[in-house]
Amino acid sequence: MTTFRRQVPTTTLTSTLCRPLLRSRKAYLPWCIFFMLYAFLTRRLFGHVYIMHSPSAHPTPSCPGVFLLGMHRSSTSVLSGLLVQGFGYEVGGPSLPPAEDNPKGFFERSDVVDMNNAFLNTQGMTWDNHDKIGGYNLSLTNSHLSSGVISNATLGDIVNFYNRAGRTVPYLHKDPRTCLTLPVWMEHLSHRPAILFTYRHPLEVAMSLKKRDNFPLVKGFKLWIIYNVLAVRYSSGYCRVVTSSDAIVHDTLEEMARILTDLSKRCHVIPPPNVTLSSTIVDAFVDHSLQHNTNGKHQEEEQLSNATILQDFGNGCVAPKIKSDHAEGSRDEMKETKVYLMAIKLFCAFKSGRAFWKNYEMPDLSTLNAPPSGVNKTT
Ligand SMILES: *[C@@H]1O[C@H](CO)[C@@H](O)[C@H](O)[C@H]1NC(C)=O
Ligand SMILES: *[C@@H]1O[C@H](CO)[C@@H](O)[C@H](O)[C@H]1NC(C)=O
Ligand SMILES: *[C@@H]1O[C@H](CO)[C@@H](O)[C@H](O)[C@H]1NC(C)=O
Ligand SMILES: *[C@@H]1O[C@H](CO)[C@@H](O)[C@H](O)[C@H]1NC(C)=O
Repeated sequence: MTTFRRQVPTTTLTSTLCRPLLRSRKAYLPWCIFFMLYAFLTRRLFGHVYIMHSPSAHPTPSCPGVFLLGMHRSSTSVLSGLLVQGFGYEVGGPSLPPAEDNPKGFFERSDVVDMNNAFLNTQGMTWDNHDKIGGYNLSLTNSHLSSGVISNATLGDIVNFYNRAGRTVPYLHKDPRTCLTLPVWMEHLSHRPAILFTYRHPLEVAMSLKKRDNFPLVKGFKLWIIYNVLAVRYSSGYCRVVTSSDAIVHDTLEEMARILTDLSKRCHVIPPPNVTLSSTIVDAFVDHSLQHNTNGKHQEEEQLSNATILQDFGNGCVAPKIKSDHAEGSRDEMKETKVYLMAIKLFCAFKSGRAFWKNYEMPDLSTLNAPPSGVNKTT
């Protein structure tokens, strides 16, 4: 396999070198033919030489841990539960106790949540301030940390755990708020962690927030957009593995195996103690979470299968008409629809992978709270 893979660049290189020469001077033609023939005939030799030096192609795992990024209510707790209890990733520190909305536990450190809350609170924000958090100021938090406005002792404890030398078990950092604050954490790490990004359908998230926190749908959509845009923006320079709540819930074993392979092979994260998941663990986390969502699920499925399509984003990804919080044709309904379509557009780009391309135009967060076009501000 390795031999074969290395043969391709040899000939590719030859033809790349020859193409401009061929175009400019015919005199180089015999030389090029000779070189190509030589490359072709010695493919085995090249492969052989390569294999003898193969250790350098598989560097020893060097990345000590993973930052899990995902919006609230996007099955990040299921995912981290599988990573922690199934594979043996380490969260460290004081754990957030299970709660009514997450009876199996959160698998996140309470001091990480405290720290993120401090970052946001000192700017007059909380996790759900849809009107403010899009403007969260990273450099202000950094100056709050260095001036002592935010005590950095807890941050020190947490990052020392991540930075610990000679780690043999990978760590896992998880708190949905880190979607907003990732660069602050990165400043204090001695290494570049791998990123595991996960997303869930915006309507499912918004309905879950509506049920738990009584948030209007429009607020859920706005929060979904802000968290997802910032998570993708801030993690773009890192080795990033992308998954979705859908893939984890419906294809748990396969998807978790793929995630583990990507993290270790592509991102060189040190391998966890367990490399396969037991079905007991999967049943404990995934089945439970499905049961837990049963009531909301029917409604979401009903809405998502509505035959009236508002907008088609291609590749079979559409925005069906949903049951609005507001009266048909009202200004509030138009606002809700505008934000709903922005969210679905990004969701479809996550599914197709386009959202992770460098040139993808992410929603402009400053337009989130602007009135929809065609609506008269003064009415
Ligand atoms: C590895 O998996 C076994 C069986 O599922 C489980 O009992 C054990 O706790 C796991 N080990 C770690 C370190 O998570
Ligand atoms: C963010 O905070 C810094 C102070 O640390 C300030 O200089 C800068 O103007 C702020 N940026 C924005 C966009 O408000
Ligand atoms: C905390 O602040 C002190 C100075 O106030 C600084 O020396 C130290 O490096 C900071 N620690 C972290 C983790 O930022
Ligand atoms: C489906 O769309 C129709 C037509 O707009 C709407 O009246 C209905 O409430 C929608 N049903 C659901 C479950 O969202």
